[in-house]
Amino acid sequence: MTTRKILVTSALPYANGSIHLGHLVEYIQTDIWVRFQKMQGHEVNYVCADDTHGTPIMLRAEAEGITPEALIARVWQEHYDDFAAFHVAFDHYGSTNSNETKEFAQGIYRKLKAANLIEVRSIEQYYDPVKNMFLPDRFIKGECPKCHAKDQYGDNCEVCGAAYAPIELINPYSAVSGAKPEMRNSDHYFFKLSADTCQQFLRSWTRSGSLQPEAANKMQEWLGAEGENKLSDWDISRDAPYFGFEIPDAPGKYFYVWLDAPVGYMGSFKQLCNSQTENGKPKTVLDFEEYWKPDSTTELYHFIGKDILYFHALFWPAMLEHSGFRTPTKLFAHGFLTVNGEKMSKSRGTFITAKSYIDNIKNTEYLRYYYAAKINGTMEDLDLNLDDFVAKVNSDLIGKYINIASRCAGFIAKKFDGKLGATDAAAAAEFQSAYQDGAIAHCYEQRDFARALREIMRLADVANQYIAEQKPWELAKQEGREADLHVACSTAMTLFRDLTLYLKPVLPVLAEQVEAFLNIVPLAWNSDWQALPAGHLINTYQHLATRLDPKLVEAMTAANLESLKPVTESHSQTRHAVAQQPLPAPQPLKDEGANAIAPLISIEDFSKIDLRVAKIVNAEHVTGAEKLLKLTLDIGEEQPRTVFAGIKSAYDPELLKGRMTVMVANLAPRKMKFGLSEGMVLAASGDAPGLFILSPDDGAQPGMRIK
Ligand code: MSP
Ligand code: ZN
Repeated sequence: MTTRKILVTSALPYANGSIHLGHLVEYIQTDIWVRFQKMQGHEVNYVCADDTHGTPIMLRAEAEGITPEALIARVWQEHYDDFAAFHVAFDHYGSTNSNETKEFAQGIYRKLKAANLIEVRSIEQYYDPVKNMFLPDRFIKGECPKCHAKDQYGDNCEVCGAAYAPIELINPYSAVSGAKPEMRNSDHYFFKLSADTCQQFLRSWTRSGSLQPEAANKMQEWLGAEGENKLSDWDISRDAPYFGFEIPDAPGKYFYVWLDAPVGYMGSFKQLCNSQTENGKPKTVLDFEEYWKPDSTTELYHFIGKDILYFHALFWPAMLEHSGFRTPTKLFAHGFLTVNGEKMSKSRGTFITAKSYIDNIKNTEYLRYYYAAKINGTMEDLDLNLDDFVAKVNSDLIGKYINIASRCAGFIAKKFDGKLGATDAAAAAEFQSAYQDGAIAHCYEQRDFARALREIMRLADVANQYIAEQKPWELAKQEGREADLHVACSTAMTLFRDLTLYLKPVLPVLAEQVEAFLNIVPLAWNSDWQALPAGHLINTYQHLATRLDPKLVEAMTAANLESLKPVTESHSQTRHAVAQQPLPAPQPLKDEGANAIAPLISIEDFSKIDLRVAKIVNAEHVTGAEKLLKLTLDIGEEQPRTVFAGIKSAYDPELLKGRMTVMVANLAPRKMKFGLSEGMVLAASGDAPGLFILSPDDGAQPGMRIK
């Protein structure tokens, strides 16, 4: 077998959020494939990095009162720890905010410029005059031009799904400062994707087999028919203030985060090459050039989610092709994770962070196993059904696999001093052929892990059937059956060893424990099949894994319920808050006087108050009123209600428009100087200054009852 040289990447996670179970579909998937390839004896390098640039990270750091560098350093550590806990074994985990990435990004840009593929054009864009910055689409909000839903982002409406330009929003406002944005001009740098050379290259690249069929279809759609130049130029610059790399010879202009993000693959790999030293000198083993030169014979694979196919299938190969580098061998795009059949949701507690899984369930190989059982190498979405997760782990992983060892190993220790006997050749034959016909290996290679596991579980069934027929627990009680008992249990150990080999890419830590228990060298795929020999000494069996208790899964979802998070969340607070278990019991307030807790009421008393989620469809000043704002509230009735609320001191009516709040819907209407008030909105106040209206959690709809 020839040794392949393979460079593998997973997409670089954004440094402004925690790793969640959705992300892990990708990292676990890549890791399984990488481990499989390494077990085949290939030279495989798996690199990744945090994706650290852009406006959201800049603003988040500012909100936390720290530098972007401090923020990304902290998040890097969190991401790194999360991945390590899930046994995602990168050969290097870097950051796009590195000298290496910067040099490659600037170098690529210079090459593109020299190839006449960069153009400067003045564009008009919304500018926040208070914050003094241009606003990315996601930081402009306003009313949807199509369905008139309030508070929609500048690029698309989450209510009706319409896509539009920020300029089309009605009553736009800056999500950063709340200010009304102004149109301003600025020079932007474009990568000329519309140039013939790019379009032609991408057409042939699409046909070269680098894409899964579904992805190739998407590309055809994006490229259009032959001669129909559908691609437009790509805006690769952003104006200061921006956290990123400066564009050479363009003061105040920065690379858009998506320009340097994939370059981070190269930067991270370069760091890996540099880190391979021997006696303080760089080793020449891993040669950057060899992997990235245009005619490289090494293989380059990017694992990505389907949402970022556009960047990886169009921009990235076109950039590489025109700057003197090789292009990817293949893109492996996957679908999105749903939990219990639905999009992950903070309000249902199914937006599950990696950290909360680690804290509550601990054994991360359960999830690796479950994901492997679902991943089939296509772009279809995959579902984490939490009940099914528990069932599958317990019935397959524990019930079928671990049980083989736990039922047979004890006899070897007790009756045969830990020494194996002969193997039942007939029983082992099927395992031997499974190894030699390469079916399981083929499934791994094709990233159809679901099929690999089905195949492996079929073999586990064969092994269990053998044990059920032999009944070692009965043989052990029968006079003169010692030899049969020895063969049965020894055979079971070989079958268990084989299943462990097959499962090792998925369950690396468990496999190591089994190797220690069976007293064998690390399992690899590159030798001839042999039964464990008679006379081989194994160690005493210590239990390898326990059943998954569904209560742990419940605790995990409970820990992710949005309501448990503190209101003023910083990233690290959120992280720890999700790990917290039960909320502390409410403490009665000690304070007597005005702030004392009111006398007890019954639940019946409480239920007389009809509280509803209300959408503030309009808010305005009332001429002549000192304290009041006039609110128009939608609670799902035919006519919206009018409520006069004494919140003028605390709120700019413009900023209230579109917000959700809570109102008392069955308060007797009250005639006021300025008109009829048909209810009351709730607000918190205390000794400290300020007045704070309430907001329901994301997802609450106007008219929902609060009880
Ligand atoms: N920073 C970019 C990638 C730059 S690559 C040069 C990014 N980051 S991300 O954090 O949003 O996502 C990282 C990867 O996780 C992406 O491939 C994305 O598709 C994947 N996933 C994020 N959420 C996911 C699910 N819910 N389900 C499956 N994969 C998901 O995109
Ligand atoms: Zn809309």
